[in-house]
Amino acid sequence: HLFGKQRQNSLGVAIDIESEWQPFEQQVSQFLANHQWQASSLIAGQTQAGESHLITAPYQRDQQLGQVTWANTEQALEAINQAEQACQPWQQTPVNERANYLLQLADKLEQHMPELVALCHREAGKTVLDSIDEIREAVDFLRYYPQQTIQQFGAPTEQQSFRGEAQQVSYQGRGIFVCISPWNFPLAIFIGQVSAALVAGNCVIAKPAEQTSLIAARCIELLLETGIPNQVIQLLLGNGALLGQTLCSDKRIAGVAFTGSTPTAQAINKQLAKRDAQPVPFIAETGGQNAMIVDSTALPEQVVRDVLRSAFASAGQRCSALRVLYIQEDIAERVYSLIKGAMQELSIGNPELLSTDVGPVIDPQAQSKLQAHIDWLQHNAELIYQCPLPEDCAKGSFVAPCAYQIDNIAQLSQEHFGPILHVIKYQSNQLDRVIDQINQSGFGLTLGVHSRNESTYRHIEQRARVGNCYVNRDQVGAVVGVQPFGGQGLSGTGPKAGGPHYLYRFAKAKVTNILA
Ligand code: SER
Repeated sequence: HLFGKQRQNSLGVAIDIESEWQPFEQQVSQFLANHQWQASSLIAGQTQAGESHLITAPYQRDQQLGQVTWANTEQALEAINQAEQACQPWQQTPVNERANYLLQLADKLEQHMPELVALCHREAGKTVLDSIDEIREAVDFLRYYPQQTIQQFGAPTEQQSFRGEAQQVSYQGRGIFVCISPWNFPLAIFIGQVSAALVAGNCVIAKPAEQTSLIAARCIELLLETGIPNQVIQLLLGNGALLGQTLCSDKRIAGVAFTGSTPTAQAINKQLAKRDAQPVPFIAETGGQNAMIVDSTALPEQVVRDVLRSAFASAGQRCSALRVLYIQEDIAERVYSLIKGAMQELSIGNPELLSTDVGPVIDPQAQSKLQAHIDWLQHNAELIYQCPLPEDCAKGSFVAPCAYQIDNIAQLSQEHFGPILHVIKYQSNQLDRVIDQINQSGFGLTLGVHSRNESTYRHIEQRARVGNCYVNRDQVGAVVGVQPFGGQGLSGTGPKAGGPHYLYRFAKAKVTNILA
């Protein structure tokens, strides 16, 4: 298995995926056999009627797996009305109590792992490894943020001022937070945003991506089972542009957490700025034109392992994924031949099989956009290798993983969110130019570096304007609480998800001075 059967959890403990997987396999198969899912928006815990949309599997487009009912503008406004009523009581709910609902949800996600894995396969096209990672990451967020809230907001911090006044700093939720999440981490990022906003004392209106509404809805059903007051969490399913605009133009919204594309983040930012209302926090995690720099001291075998995982795991559909590999000319040909050999071993196809490395992309629109870029590369770049697609991929939204050599990162005017690796050769005296080119792309999410020379990787790490820099390893899969994640520039505003500063952005700080 190319991406490794042995994985480490966040504590560095090795986990054997195969032995972990086997007890679940049969239960997952039961859900896969004939289960049909239904989902609709939930406003104050009530199922909403609306236009019905069929959901099909990215792996097999003729396979229907359920139906989703979309919300309209009136329902979005009703969600805000309901949330508004719950803001004050929720802010006043003790931190421990708020945290407890989320901790209970973490346990429930673990108990419902087989169904959630089945949903990740079917609705999001995720492989076995990605599905397990997805649920683990969601559980990590659900345990990390409550723990952080208790530590950070549990009691006012006390400081003695020089005049002998007592000074207290306390934190309170801001009001109604809108959480808009992407399809590529339909459970982890979705509940990461929602749980942070909730534990910090906000009511939440959650708008997950259209493509993965079933997973999000199942998660909110489980959250409501914990007994959390149902007005504090509203779920809106449906058209992102329509619902997003309704929510983000409403004066009652006290903040927005968004993960998705840079143009959508820019549109939300404009919408918020146009309101004749209080300025509010906007937390955006967007895309990247992520590079890896490999110099001639790097170990080629290790480079190839990390390039493959960074570029092709999750079918390249991670915002952290490697897009542009810069490789020092002296070792380029050797690394190319190893990359080609390793790509020949990639197993592409049915995401439900443990042996599959690369599953489908999310939908036909994504597939045709990526295919159009590959067509452009065929005329404007030099092919290193393209994996052949097995026959059974014809029924789904598959893109063959490929690697092309290009001349300059500036040839890529946008992010290509799939299994396409661009490679650029550089000479040893051009390192600073390479770093400048990467910085000039304007994006700044992840950067990989492979070098055995400490002064080289330190030099690169200090000059590169990125949020997460990974040296001598792959550059995907940030672990909650260990590698706080998020970019700069066109890649987002911060603060980093899964890190110690995230929750503060969801809260208002109040300083009280008492001269006794
Ligand atoms: N957090 C993910 C990663 O690190 C990307 O969203 O791969």
